[in-house]
Amino acid sequence: MQAVQFAGHGGTEVVEYGAVPDPEVGRDEVLVDVKAGSLNHLDVWTRRGMPQLDLDMPHVPGSDAAGVVVDHVGEATWSDSLRSLAKGGRLVTCGATTGGRPETHVQRLFWNQLSVLGSTMATLGEADDALSLVWDGTFDVRIRDVLPMSETARAHELLENREGFGKVVVIPDSER
Ligand SMILES: NC(=O)c1ccc[n+]([C@@H]2O[C@H](COP(=O)([O-])OP(=O)(O)OC[C@H]3O[C@@H](n4cnc5c(N)ncnc54)[C@H](OP(=O)(O)O)[C@@H]3O)[C@@H](O)[C@H]2O)c1
Repeated sequence: MQAVQFAGHGGTEVVEYGAVPDPEVGRDEVLVDVKAGSLNHLDVWTRRGMPQLDLDMPHVPGSDAAGVVVDHVGEATWSDSLRSLAKGGRLVTCGATTGGRPETHVQRLFWNQLSVLGSTMATLGEADDALSLVWDGTFDVRIRDVLPMSETARAHELLENREGFGKVVVIPDSER
């Protein structure tokens, strides 16, 4: 992804823009597809450095952003996805792996004027556009493990216990 980074603390000469690795989402985190950010004085103070602020450099700054939260997990993440939205925030749902009937705090929806949007599939042309980003190396397909079919039970465990990250692939034992 493209991002602004501080090479270190200092003046505006430390502000850089360029490609950085895509972020990996932790268990208790959501990934926001940021469409725009607005500067806050916190960005300037962070750039200059503050007592007791101990950041790894380079640092990707940002305190105010506008974007959407995409949830394809369903029940396990739904409440947190909604809670992560600021007033007027948007949640896009496109899957429900852990269940399709999560509880919703309706008051949170109307008080915060939130929008929940459903998204499904794409045209073949859009799918081609997305895949071209795989073929040209922009996106990396993450493989958790490649196992022989005789170890499919282990493949199930990896998925069920959420061990590792990425697709679990099984291939005929003769191909190992
Ligand atoms: N909108 C549409 O048109 C459309 C089209 C196709 C599929 N879908 C739906 O999209 C969903 C995902 O499909 P898929 O093919 O991508 O399935 P998948 O390959 O099985 O991926 C499931 C994903 O859910 C995550 N997950 C599972 N349990 C979780 C939990 N408790 N907390 C957080 N993350 C969890 C997994 O993360 P880990 O790997 O870390 O466990 C994995 O990234 C399904 O509900 C499917 O029906 C929607």
